[in-house]
Amino acid sequence: MQMFIFMFAVTNIPSLEGGSYVHDQEWFKRKSDEAYNASLKSYHHDPIEVVNDFNHHVHRALDGQNSTRRGLGRKYHGECKAQNPIDRCWRCDDNWAKNRKKLAKCVKGFGRNTTGGADGEFYIVTDPSDNDVVTPKPGTLRFAVLQPRPLWIIFDRDMKIKLQNELMVTSNKTIDGRGHTIQICGKDAILINLTTNNHLKLFAKNVIIHNLKIHDIAPGKGGMMRDTAEHVGIRGTDDGDCIGLFAASDVWIDHISMWNCRDGMIDIVKGSTGITISNVHLTKHDHVFLFGASDSDPNDSIMQITLAFNHFGKGLIQRMPRCRYGFFHVVNNDYTHWLMYAVGGSSHPTIISEGNRYIAPPDPNAKLITHRNFASEEEWKKWQWRSENDVFIDGAYFVESGEPFKEKQTPFSNKAFIQSKPGSYVRRLTRFSGFVKCIEGTKC
Ligand SMILES: *[C@@H]1O[C@H](CO)[C@@H](O)[C@H](O)[C@H]1NC(C)=O
Ligand SMILES: *[C@@H]1O[C@H](CO)[C@@H](O)[C@H](O)[C@H]1NC(C)=O
Ligand SMILES: *[C@@H]1O[C@H](CO)[C@@H](O)[C@H](O)[C@H]1NC(C)=O
Ligand SMILES: *[C@@H]1O[C@H](CO)[C@@H](O)[C@H](O)[C@H]1NC(C)=O
Ligand SMILES: *[C@@H]1O[C@H](CO)[C@@H](O)[C@H](O)[C@H]1NC(C)=O
Ligand SMILES: *[C@@H]1O[C@H](CO)[C@@H](O)[C@H](O)[C@H]1NC(C)=O
Repeated sequence: MQMFIFMFAVTNIPSLEGGSYVHDQEWFKRKSDEAYNASLKSYHHDPIEVVNDFNHHVHRALDGQNSTRRGLGRKYHGECKAQNPIDRCWRCDDNWAKNRKKLAKCVKGFGRNTTGGADGEFYIVTDPSDNDVVTPKPGTLRFAVLQPRPLWIIFDRDMKIKLQNELMVTSNKTIDGRGHTIQICGKDAILINLTTNNHLKLFAKNVIIHNLKIHDIAPGKGGMMRDTAEHVGIRGTDDGDCIGLFAASDVWIDHISMWNCRDGMIDIVKGSTGITISNVHLTKHDHVFLFGASDSDPNDSIMQITLAFNHFGKGLIQRMPRCRYGFFHVVNNDYTHWLMYAVGGSSHPTIISEGNRYIAPPDPNAKLITHRNFASEEEWKKWQWRSENDVFIDGAYFVESGEPFKEKQTPFSNKAFIQSKPGSYVRRLTRFSGFVKCIEGTKC
């Protein structure tokens, strides 16, 4: 039996013996319906418009840069280091530290409505500890993410935050690690997730996670913990995902370095939508991105995700991503290693793979990029998985299916399809993926 405790501030100490009881089932159901309604609002009825808008911004950012370009190596000595349109929006500003909220205007792709904590105050995390998951101490990251109001969360110094349990991020928050090296590790990850076993489910909307290192995440031990300002409940152990999104909408994950989580790097489930994952650098992991966890959850049909400018690096095995039902724009990513396959799915997802660079591993049995589950060839031939402008190296190959986007108008839109920048630009576009060290007073 869980508790339902009304609180006006998380500083109040909840009495675990008192309070009014409410069936958690009922609470879940309400939260879950609210979250699904929020996802429906965020869902875009013309995904090709979003794809075109994204590609248009990349063209504009790169075409304006011919004069400042200096060579093609990973090192760059130009005026402003930023190559892609998301980075160009903020990294060229010497005063980024004074204009932090400008970041909220930089997101492109399906997560483009995300503003995070832009309407709120700044909250400065001063304490790296995480000793109380029911009544977190003011000054900790856990305290900040549970506040029931918009907040732009920053840090006063370098920190290694060892989580004792899942970090439940609530709506209208930005976690902005710029200016310091913020590492998050330990028992469980950042969960914009929000669920657990069959007991507790939480749902967030409008969250930015920016410039952190997240690594060595092990499954949480569960137990009593707070998931919102007004609710404490029992949570079971979880999978040890780096980041989990459960019925979350309008989420932007940018410039994160991630390695070595127990389960998924990023799992997105239960009708989550309106999501952009960009400039992320990933290494050392098996199951990388899971978009849709179940073939029997057609609510994931509203899932719309942009995956852009990410670098899939050493030691990754499979699922970059593995998709179900929804619409996935996989654009301008650098796949330099995989051991089994890169892009996969089941339950007829739509996947547009554009302008990526795929470098196959030496294993002659792992050259195939795509991987389809639980469907006969006759069936998967109808799924729309298209490759445009991708670059294939060392024998990598992509098996397409469904209607081409170019020759026929797409079923989603009557607009012409704007092509991405080709895969040959990917090294430039992803050169600064992952955590970037930003120093106040200079361009980042
Ligand atoms: C789909 O979402 C609705 C609304 O929240 C919910 O009632 C239903 O149980 C969900 N279906 C599944 C399979 O999760
Ligand atoms: C979700 O939306 C439906 C239809 O607009 C509405 O009837 C229902 O009350 C909403 N549910 C919640 C929990 O907001
Ligand atoms: C963003 O918000 C607008 C207005 O609410 C909505 O129409 C649109 O579907 C949302 N999503 C995207 C990706 O633009
Ligand atoms: C930049 O260079 C490319 C290829 O060299 C060229 O096609 C494009 O027109 C140039 N853009 C501008 C704005 O000069
Ligand atoms: C988040 O902010 C929006 C816009 O200010 C507001 O309508 C919404 O209620 C907020 N959500 C929560 C859960 O506080
Ligand atoms: C959220 O956590 C639950 C258990 O903790 C896990 O089963 C589920 O897969 C997670 N969801 C995501 C999206 O990570």
